[in-house]
Amino acid sequence: MTTTGHEVPLRYDPFDYAIDADPHPIWRRMRDEAPLYRNEEHDFWALSRFADVLEASLDWRTFSSAHGTVLDLMSDEPLEDASMIFTDPPEHDELRHLVSPAFTPRRIAALEDRAREITQQLLDSVQESATDPHLVSFDFVQDFGALLPTTVISSMLGVPEADQDELRGWTDTMLYRGPDDTTPAETSLEAMAKVGSYIRDLIDDRRTNPGDDLVSVLLTAELDRPDGGTRRLTKREIHDFTILLFAAGNETVARLLGNAAVIFDQYPDQRARLVADPTLLPNAIEELLRYEAPSPVQGRVSTREQELHGIRLPAGSRFLLLTGSAGRDEREYDEPDRFDVTRTFSRHVTFGYGIHFCLGASLARLESRVALEEMLRRFPTWEVEADGLERVHTSNVRGFHHVPVVASAVTS
Ligand code: HEM
Repeated sequence: MTTTGHEVPLRYDPFDYAIDADPHPIWRRMRDEAPLYRNEEHDFWALSRFADVLEASLDWRTFSSAHGTVLDLMSDEPLEDASMIFTDPPEHDELRHLVSPAFTPRRIAALEDRAREITQQLLDSVQESATDPHLVSFDFVQDFGALLPTTVISSMLGVPEADQDELRGWTDTMLYRGPDDTTPAETSLEAMAKVGSYIRDLIDDRRTNPGDDLVSVLLTAELDRPDGGTRRLTKREIHDFTILLFAAGNETVARLLGNAAVIFDQYPDQRARLVADPTLLPNAIEELLRYEAPSPVQGRVSTREQELHGIRLPAGSRFLLLTGSAGRDEREYDEPDRFDVTRTFSRHVTFGYGIHFCLGASLARLESRVALEEMLRRFPTWEVEADGLERVHTSNVRGFHHVPVVASAVTS
């Protein structure tokens, strides 16, 4: 029996691994058939069209982040002592104002040499441990893509190089969810405690030995108080922001690089264009972000009654803004399912939009450009071993935990 798409009931569940493997056909149907989609089981409404996601991201007064933005962790009441990403103005803007100076494009550009050095060391190490240095098998995510961002952030925070490997190991374990896990495992919680204790010691150390690092900057930053005075950030606030950087910055860049390895294997002609002309890389990275969003789902809770697509919704409704679907919206992009490193477009919502626009966007762009420049220079082609691909499963991050590749090195 032939079944057309429309005869199959439309069902979107962000926790369903089968859907997560390839949500694009379902997101397409949602954009066409149910642009305001209702999921009763998990109690959310989903917006999937580019224009709706953009508008809701800009309208923070209506779509609040203060109840959390990760579906499984969203609460009925606003979160207390939350990190910046889970706050609304004015708290959000105060915190963001404090930390933004560390993330300006100029400050981030200054990290390029360090990022390149780390990238080269990582690629040296996979090549040196191969039996044949011209045909190198390695895990693009575990041996490379996941290691680069953690090491860069550690350097920004002033973590001594001697400690970076250990801290990287703990953060990996902290964020890892096995293929069948939806809750943090014991090992993950233990690793979280170790990271927390390391960061608290680092803060204490910087208080007495300040340096040119982010923790030292945060220790001296002053927040305006409602009574007109100023105050310093508490140790807890600095600790929470540091953990946010590890959580928001490492997972996503690792997923972006894993996606790049898989997509360039699927589109070798596009990879060859980049090898021939690396100046296309910044554009290719925007295309990668549009095509497969590493963080495709942002949660919100509405603060007022409103009407959307003809349906009246009460205050307190839970929403998912599907930034991953917005990147494939044919109302915004021509032939959105075509991956084209030379595509020109002026905007995407993969880094969010409006007040919560990704603080680390410049850093993510820098890290991914340097990683792919060095990779393509050394290994212009590679093949993904499809049997070994393993996805990460969380309700808001999408991509691969393992991407085994066999890469062919340039012979000089
Ligand atoms: C490819 C990589 C990345 C992607 C796709 C990504 C995606 C996003 C998205 C979608 C948001 C908005 C969330 C919302 O609206 O609720 C966001 C916010 C944020 N990101 Fe990223 N991110 C990436 C890399 C990074 C990096 C490298 C860092 C830092 C080192 C970082 C730190 C943050 C922070 C702190 C916020 C909160 C901003 C705020 O609330 O004002 N991200 N990111």
